[in-house]
This record gives sequence, structure tokens and C-alpha cells, in this order.
Amino acid sequence: MSEGNGRGLKKGLTSYGDAGFSLFLRKAFIKGMGYSDDALDRPIVGIIDTSSGYNACHANVPDLVRAVERGVMLAGALPISFPTISIHESFAYPTSMFLRNLMSMDTEEMIRAQPMDAVVMVGGCDKTVPAQLMGAASAGIPAVQLVTGPMLTGSHRGARVGACTDCRRFWARYRAGEIEADEIAEVNSRLVPGAGTCGVMGTASTMALVVEALGMMVPGGATAPAVSADRRRIAESTGAVAVKLAADGLVPEKIMTAKAFENALTVLLATGGSTNGIVHLAAMAGRTGLRLDLDAFDRIGRDVPVLVDLKPSGQHYMEDLHAAGGLATILRELKPHLHLDCLTVTGRTLGEEIDAAGGGWPQTIVAPLSTPLYPEGGMAVLRGNLAPGGAIVKQSAATPALMSHRGRAVVFSSIADMAERVDNPDLDVTADDILVLQNAGPKGAPGMPEAGYMPIPRKLAKAGVKDMVRISDARMSGTASGTIVLHVTPEAAEGGPLALVRSGDMIELDVPTRRLMLHVSEVEIEKRRKAFQMPSHPGSGRGYKRLFLETVQQADKGCDFAFLIPPAKGDVPEGRN
Ligand code: FES
Ligand code: MG
Repeated sequence: MSEGNGRGLKKGLTSYGDAGFSLFLRKAFIKGMGYSDDALDRPIVGIIDTSSGYNACHANVPDLVRAVERGVMLAGALPISFPTISIHESFAYPTSMFLRNLMSMDTEEMIRAQPMDAVVMVGGCDKTVPAQLMGAASAGIPAVQLVTGPMLTGSHRGARVGACTDCRRFWARYRAGEIEADEIAEVNSRLVPGAGTCGVMGTASTMALVVEALGMMVPGGATAPAVSADRRRIAESTGAVAVKLAADGLVPEKIMTAKAFENALTVLLATGGSTNGIVHLAAMAGRTGLRLDLDAFDRIGRDVPVLVDLKPSGQHYMEDLHAAGGLATILRELKPHLHLDCLTVTGRTLGEEIDAAGGGWPQTIVAPLSTPLYPEGGMAVLRGNLAPGGAIVKQSAATPALMSHRGRAVVFSSIADMAERVDNPDLDVTADDILVLQNAGPKGAPGMPEAGYMPIPRKLAKAGVKDMVRISDARMSGTASGTIVLHVTPEAAEGGPLALVRSGDMIELDVPTRRLMLHVSEVEIEKRRKAFQMPSHPGSGRGYKRLFLETVQQADKGCDFAFLIPPAKGDVPEGRN
């Protein structure tokens, strides 16, 4: 996949049909930045700078870029930083997921367009890391990921708090009338005390850990807090690793193999990681021609238990996991389940990196394999006539009593419909019912928003109901918890069975047997199918939204655009089918 006609500034000189003149012009312009010929004659390491005034998760990126530059220069190459899109979860209308593929295209094309022998991708907020790795895998030059790192925890009236599991917890208490307006205003200033990504096992932390396990990050790179000296040292060593990657020509395809993705899936399950992780891993694997097999993922989850005691499945924060030795502590426990011979960006194998890592001291964050926190993997894959293409439930963050549940459907046809009716005191709903949300999938919303964490109807919340079975084609924030079935495939907007559910229908969820069933006769389902009409979206006739709606794939394929995925060459896990 790699292209170009030489190292450093000479790479990709095609513009005028006169390579000599093109290089002359290129050098003339870049010399305007003050570089010497000596600097310009070296290999170039591009550094992707995703800082933005809207993105607190990336507030430390300028510092990290400087530290990467130092690492690159100490190793004898020339660092050149450049911007791409920056996406923050809270400032990405209509959803950050809508923009992830755009960011991956920006990343791919800017890596391709500009001369560089390797690239360091600096980013951290949820969609950023998958977007960057999707782009790098497609661009095909040596690449290494550097995450911004988790934010530190804050303190509210003597209690430790962190974004954003505690954001949800406090808001749910406020909705239930348990805390007053003055307290909710006060805690608002405590939840995000500074730079960095959400400090729980949300999507950002999940992606950081699975990408280190995948081998695309320097060892120890996932957990160091954003503002720590460790984080800057990791950035410096990432720069040095990039120079070596360039010299060795070690492209992502050689690291992001089927076995490496299986390691990443194992870590996803053992961390009780975000459900978004499975969508992103499917998309990243897809860019290397690998198809992720959801049923095989479920089988791995039967063997790999949850070991990591972090919110929302557990009780601690990322800085505690870092103090406990970070990913290496998890990998050491998981050794029997890992492919230790997989190559990492350092040029050493994952097994060698585990052995070289310190750690092994007494700690309470990562449980031993023999006494896990939860006996199975964090996620289970459901199938049935309601989700023929699969659905996901984060069983480690669900209510045990609801894992096998039959209930009456209370259907919302869209997010707007839900917002309008869910708190209506006249809504016909009890705690035993199942809330169903339609048209919140990849094409439905569009952009598959994190609307799967439907609010408990206010009258039930006030009566003390904390959880209900909720089913949708949406995603859910990695920081949320509850008995929530997500990513129902095919989605409602594609005419999937989810679109055909009506209020009053009986639905059966049985996580132990992985079943999700709609108990309505085939005849009635057929009748409803004939009456189904595809929803339309205002403004979808042009631009990026049109491209998105025309080409986005379903959740099981990672919601990537069809035209960005190369022909399939294998499966993850390898050869199990
Ligand atoms: Fe950026 Fe949570 S909002 S990581
Ligand atoms: Mg999130």
C-alpha cells in the first residue's frame, strides 16, 4: 500500500512532471519556515496535531507535539506537525460518530498528500483514535498512535468524581429529585478538572488500551494521565519509535494483523470496555481487509472474564490503573488468552513487551484471572428475530435481575419522540416494560448517536426505578451503565425488525442464551413490513450528509463507508469459521 518515490521531502513528487523543479519549489517554500538544508535532508516524521479550542480532551496536544518533536530530533530525523479535524464528543453536531469517517479520510489523505516517512498521530477523545488508525491503515505508511491520556479526577464535597460516569450519576439523582439545583451547578465545575480524556473506562480509555494491545502504541502509552511527566516521556519515546519505524518500513498492516485484533478484542472484553470499542475495532480491521466475526467475539467473551475494576463496570479511575502498572498488569493476567508473538511498533513482540514491563506489585485495580470481577467478558452478542445481524449488551454493567426478562414494549419512533414523551406523567409505562427506541442507528439519526442510554421515565425514576431493559439501534457512551441492548442490526431505518415493533408487543431478552426475540406472529410481522416506510432526513440531498447516508455500513461492519473498505482477505479471529 505504501507509495512515494523516496524518503523525506522527495516523497510523492509528481506535481509538474519535472521532479527536480517540484523539489526545488517544495524546498523553497518550506525554507520559509526557517529550516536548513541539513534538516531538510533527513527522514521526516509527520505529527498530527488535533488541538482545538473546543476540545478539552486534547488541551495538552501542543505540549505533546513538542515532546514528540524532541524524540524525533534526538533520533536524528525532522519532525513536521500538521493539523487535521478535531472532534470532541460534546461539540460534534449531529454526533461525533457522524464525523469519525470524515476524520479518517482527512487523516488518510493528509498523510498521503504531504511528504513524510512515518507519522505520529496525537489524539484521544473517543472517535479520534479509531479515525486516526483507520486513516493510517489506509494510507499505509509507518504510523504510531499517541493518546492524550486520561484527565485526573476531581473532588466534590469530599467525594472523588470523574467524567463522565459521575456526570450521569449526578444528573440521574437530580432528575429523581435527590439533589437540588445548587448542587448540580456546583458539581458541574468539578467533573472535568483539566486536560485529558474521560477518566473512566469510557470509549477513550477503552480505545487507548485496545490500541496498545494491538501493538500500535509504545508500551505503557495508554494510561499515563494527560498532565503527567510520564505522558510527556511517552510522547518523546513515541517520536523515537516513529524514526525507527520509518527506517524499518514497518507499516500498520504488518502490526494490525488478525491475531493482533484478537488480542485487542480480548482486552476489550477483560476491561469491561466501551461498547463503542467493538464498532471501532470492526472499522479498523475492515481497513486492513479483515472482517470482524461477532459470534466468535462472543465465544471469546465466554472465556475471558472482566478483570479491571474501573467505572462504570467497577469503581476506580484511569489514574488508579496507571498506578497499578497500566495495560501490562492486565496483559500479564491475560497471557494464556493472548497471541504473544504479535509484533508491536517497537519492533519487539507483545510477549517481549509484557516481560520487559515492570509491575507485579500488590494492587487492587486488576483482578487475577482466577478471581475475576465478572465471570465473562464485558460484552455479549445477542441474536434473534429482533436482531438478525446481532446486537450488543454490556453485561458487566447491567442489572443481574434483568438479564433474563420478558416485558411489554414501550416504543419511541425517534429520539425526538422519546424526548417529547418519556417524562409525560400519562405515559403508559411500568418498571417491567421494555423501552424501545427506533431510528437512532447509523442511517436513522443519522450518525448512530449515543442515545441508547434512554432516560428512565421521570415518574418511574422518582419512584426509585434505577434500571429497565432498553433496546435500540443506537450506541451508548462507554461511561454509561444499565441493562441496555445496543447496535440492533439491521437498524430500523433500513427496515430491520426493530422498525416493526409496536407498543404492547412482548419482547424477550435472555443474555445467558444470547437471545433477543420479538414475540409477534410471522403474519403480523409481514403485514407491518409491507407498511414500512423509509424515514427521510432533511438536508440529505447534498454534501457530506448525502455521502454518509448513501455509503455508511451497519454497526457490525463498523459503520465505515463502503468505498473506504478494501476487499476482504480474512477474518478476526483468524480461521475460526
Ligand atoms: Fe473526550 Fe470523554 S469527552 S474522552
Ligand atoms: Mg463517550
